[in-house]
Amino acid sequence: MKPSFRVGLRALQEGDAEALYAAIEASRPQLKRRLRWIAAVRAPEDCREFIRGRALAGERLEELVYGVFEARRGLIGIAALQNLRKNPGVAEFSCWISAPSRGRGLACQAGRLLVALAFKNKGLRRLYARLEPSNRPARKVIQKLGFRYEGRLRHAKRLNGRWVDQECWGLLKSDRNKRGS
Ligand SMILES: CC(C)(COP(=O)(O)OP(=O)(O)OC[C@H]1O[C@@H](n2cnc3c(N)ncnc32)[C@H](O)[C@@H]1OP(=O)(O)O)[C@@H](O)C(=O)NCCC(=O)NCCS
Repeated sequence: MKPSFRVGLRALQEGDAEALYAAIEASRPQLKRRLRWIAAVRAPEDCREFIRGRALAGERLEELVYGVFEARRGLIGIAALQNLRKNPGVAEFSCWISAPSRGRGLACQAGRLLVALAFKNKGLRRLYARLEPSNRPARKVIQKLGFRYEGRLRHAKRLNGRWVDQECWGLLKSDRNKRGS
């Protein structure tokens, strides 16, 4: 039986800036471990600017950034398809969830919605995800979404003052068809 979805995705609006800032503040140390841009977010105004920038990037079809919303808590994270113009039909999958909302399967639910949107509505054929080998929760999420391991890039990214490896994971539209999803 498929799970009943407790989260929804929608494009961010400027009015979401305060809630986005609150979601970041609630998990700043956890997010800082994984996401380089967190340090640059210092006030709700930075989130407003981020949302404006993403709207423009969406219009140019460079990236599609959605808020992850839960009925009770409102905005709890972000799910995005990025680097859409580098290689038509291909996008980078990414997602984060605010710390107080983690561990309840919500990232998996948001991820399933994003994958369905990518393949059914946006006509994409391949999604890829990059993650540090130490990022066990993210690996679990993308494995559950059906991504396959494709290899490891050594010292591919500088994060918090040190070089880190990146695992490469990929999901093809045809993989999903084989799984019957
Ligand atoms: C990765 C992330 C989105 C997962 O969020 P989440 O809400 O905890 O994910 P879910 O509740 O859907 O959990 C998914 C699975 O990971 C498991 N998990 C959660 N934390 C874990 C941990 N520390 N170690 C191992 N597994 C873990 C959960 O148990 C669950 O598996 P299960 O259903 O078999 O129990 C969240 O940790 C995050 O925002 N991290 C920072 C951003 C990031 O790394 N993004 C990369 C994604 S592309």
